[in-house]
Amino acid sequence: MVELGATSLYSSFGIMKLLLLLVALAQLAFALDNGLALTPPMGWLSWQRYRCNIDCFNDPDNCISEKLYMRMAQLLVSEGYSKLGYTYVNIDDCWMEMERDPNGTLVADRKRFPHGIKWLADYVHSLGLKLGIYEDFGTFTCGGYPGSMFYLQKDAETFASWGIDMVKLDGCYADISDMDFGYPAMSFFLNQTGRPMLYSCSWPAYVVFNGQVPDYKKIASYCNIWRNYADIQDSWDSVKDIIQFYGNDTGSFSLVAGPGNFNDPDMIIVGDYGLSYDQQQVQMAMWAIMAAPLLMSIDLGNVKPETKRLLQNDGVIRVNQEFHGIQGRRIIKDNTFEVWFKPMSVDAKGGAFAFLNLNDAGGPIQVQMPLSKLGLMEGEGYNVTEGFTGKFIGTLKPHDLINASINPTGVWFGIAYFDC
Ligand code: GLA
Repeated sequence: MVELGATSLYSSFGIMKLLLLLVALAQLAFALDNGLALTPPMGWLSWQRYRCNIDCFNDPDNCISEKLYMRMAQLLVSEGYSKLGYTYVNIDDCWMEMERDPNGTLVADRKRFPHGIKWLADYVHSLGLKLGIYEDFGTFTCGGYPGSMFYLQKDAETFASWGIDMVKLDGCYADISDMDFGYPAMSFFLNQTGRPMLYSCSWPAYVVFNGQVPDYKKIASYCNIWRNYADIQDSWDSVKDIIQFYGNDTGSFSLVAGPGNFNDPDMIIVGDYGLSYDQQQVQMAMWAIMAAPLLMSIDLGNVKPETKRLLQNDGVIRVNQEFHGIQGRRIIKDNTFEVWFKPMSVDAKGGAFAFLNLNDAGGPIQVQMPLSKLGLMEGEGYNVTEGFTGKFIGTLKPHDLINASINPTGVWFGIAYFDC
């Protein structure tokens, strides 16, 4: 997020509000129903790793350009990610020219995207993948490029005509009170195009940073996924901070998650520079349990084998993509030890769980915990496996103990299947 002070750039919002109000009134019955994101979307997103690097002269392989997105699309396929569900290739900020064309249409940077976005979308589609794009509800994107303010409908139509599959709408340079009308309006315009485009809203993140609690039910009726907290950085502190925000669950945002709607704790940084292997396991286990979008922001051409195995881990993806889409919650917090549980069925018969050791001192901690403490009470018992390896632990009854050794800043990830 940019600082909220930047929002003052846009203050005369009377006309805008009126227009948006008219849209809202005309479409009282409208709610997003595009059939997308039935499970959390998976793919790749450029921002965390590649930021706003537009220096293709000195850094041609890492700058924001069609080449970068084509290379990542190829790697999603050749490295085996796409067949596991990682299918979105998402452009983030800094892809545009600084000015719209004379008709008011957005233009991709002519040097860095010489073939234009439609061509890139066609290429990405030819590999069986989907293309996402970034815009901003305000007058500018966070990086200072043209925003969608006053152009929402036009931009929705442009994206549809290019063959875009997902739109991330950021909220820099906008007034928060306008978002109540503006994000629903964009939802309506996207829907109007007739092209299903997954709609990712940064709306609640700006509300949270303004010290308010978002109306998550309303947000979920217009958006498929939504950011509600700070940008992830390439560090353990950042991952831990996000996990704490999700553990606190202020406004009970976990409850609105489900098929078609997911909270987005931000990108996967497993494969970047900032996390130890234990911490990488924490991010994967926790993003699975939180039913979070799995959008990797890494160089897919340079991933260590053990890290790649984690990104492609069967247990992680199975838990993350479980079709009920229930978001796991923190059920025990005891200083630096936490227990998280994600029901894998509506009647909580079985689920995935994480024992989290957030302590960054000393050696592994030993935990013995009965299944009953996770809320697993069926007398017939559960088939428990270690989540990353799939190793069978046993058929455990509610009073039976799970014995786990958990490294500092590490996790024990388990899955309890109820098969009876
Ligand atoms: C905001 C968003 C990030 C990224 C940048 C781009 O900070 O939260 O995810 O899109 O803008 O400028």
